[in-house]
Amino acid sequence: MHISRAQIREAADMIQKQSSIQPRIGLILGSGLGVLAEEIQDPVTIPYGQIPHFPISTVEGHAGQLVIGTLENQPVVVMQGRFHLYEGHELASVTFPIRVMKELGVDTILVTNAAGGVNESFEPGDLMIIRDHINLMFRNPLIGPNDPELGPRFPDMSQAYDAELRQLAHRVAEEQGIKVQEGVYAGVLGPSYETPAEIRMIRKVGGDAVGMSTVPEVIVARHAGIRVLGISCISNMAAGILPQPLSHEEVMETAERVKEKFIGLVRGILRQL
Ligand code: 6GU
Repeated sequence: MHISRAQIREAADMIQKQSSIQPRIGLILGSGLGVLAEEIQDPVTIPYGQIPHFPISTVEGHAGQLVIGTLENQPVVVMQGRFHLYEGHELASVTFPIRVMKELGVDTILVTNAAGGVNESFEPGDLMIIRDHINLMFRNPLIGPNDPELGPRFPDMSQAYDAELRQLAHRVAEEQGIKVQEGVYAGVLGPSYETPAEIRMIRKVGGDAVGMSTVPEVIVARHAGIRVLGISCISNMAAGILPQPLSHEEVMETAERVKEKFIGLVRGILRQL
């Protein structure tokens, strides 16, 4: 599948008919972190199913709707629930919302996710500012003909996660007395969690956390010239570190436990953007 500018325009038109707000900031909320969308002021909520060319989200813990409104006085568009490759979606569908955000006027996105801790100094409940990523999905959303109106054929990825935004996130965390880690996010396809051997490999190649999202969205955002800040909630330790098996329940429980801290950090960042 290939996305055309006409399809992006159609989706943006539909959204702009529902809300007069021109969002500058896009938030993509991962597993268990969607609660932030409930704090949006004057929200206009659009289920993904109503937006032309949007896929439908299927995962538990993901509401599957776009919320437009203001948060800390900033005009925002929020994805409450995102699309994953493991759901069977095409890369073009997973990243279509990023193209639409750009069309709506978004110049900065904050991407969040739940991730497994690979770095053994991390603890479940830690927040990690993403410094860089490793694409272990071995797929790329930009494969196919390139529309130069959307971005360059060979986009630079040497500063994918904006240094100024990371610095801002660290400053806000410090102001709020929140401990944050910083590290490299390794993106894998899932949906099975990794084996202990795979986690040892990810650690060896420089990954600090591992998850099943974010990488495709960030590649497309950078292609579109959007600034990116990424924050992972370390929801559990990855395989082979602790004796107990991994579970989606633990992921959701940890997200629930850190949500106040997480929301405080995001709000603080928005105030200073
Ligand atoms: Cl351990 N692995 C992956 N791939 N995704 C996760 C995770 C682990 N924990 C939360 N999300």
